[in-house]
Amino acid sequence: MNGAVSDHDRASMFSQRAVTIWLTGLSGSGKSTIAYELERHLIAEGHACYVLDGDNIRHGLGSDLGFTPADRRENIRRVAHVAQLMNDAGLIVISALISPMHEDRVMAREIIGHDRFIETYLSASVDECARRDPKGLYAKARAGAIPSFTGVSAPYEAPVEPDLRVDTANEAAEASVASIYAHLRASFLMPR
Ligand code: ADX
Repeated sequence: MNGAVSDHDRASMFSQRAVTIWLTGLSGSGKSTIAYELERHLIAEGHACYVLDGDNIRHGLGSDLGFTPADRRENIRRVAHVAQLMNDAGLIVISALISPMHEDRVMAREIIGHDRFIETYLSASVDECARRDPKGLYAKARAGAIPSFTGVSAPYEAPVEPDLRVDTANEAAEASVASIYAHLRASFLMPR
């Protein structure tokens, strides 16, 4: 049975069309920083949104999963279903998962819906992310202490035609947030 509340009712309530900003990029490319800063900006403008961050989700919803290709795919499948539900509830979702494989991102787009999925590529090279190494993981991975580490001993398939690309290697996080926000404002946000 379907409820009596339409997408249109929810869009008017929140002054926005629900969408998922699907951030993909290497560890250290700035996904969490950008996700939380964009969320802060949207909330300050009175919009309803929520961040689904891989690092946090792996403590709960994905706590049984590791980093094999199959486990990463399952992690992405679960997060995509949560994003889809949150979009149905009217929220803007910002997901921050490495999501290294093209096929898995295609699956996420299919689960969430093509008109609600903005694949956003945070383009920073392995060398740049390893230079920053905010969590010290690249050093450990290069020393062999973390198996199947993305960009070192496991693949990252960069999106070929992302919906949005932000150059996090060469611009400040605020500039990346501003360009994603501008895209949202043009197509998904109504003034409050
Ligand atoms: S994904 O591949 O399934 O999309 P996800 O974004 O949830 O990955 O988790 C990545 C985070 O897990 C990294 O930011 C890092 O802190 C941690 N991590 C631990 N082991 C690995 C690994 N082998 N490869 C990548 N990230 C890892």
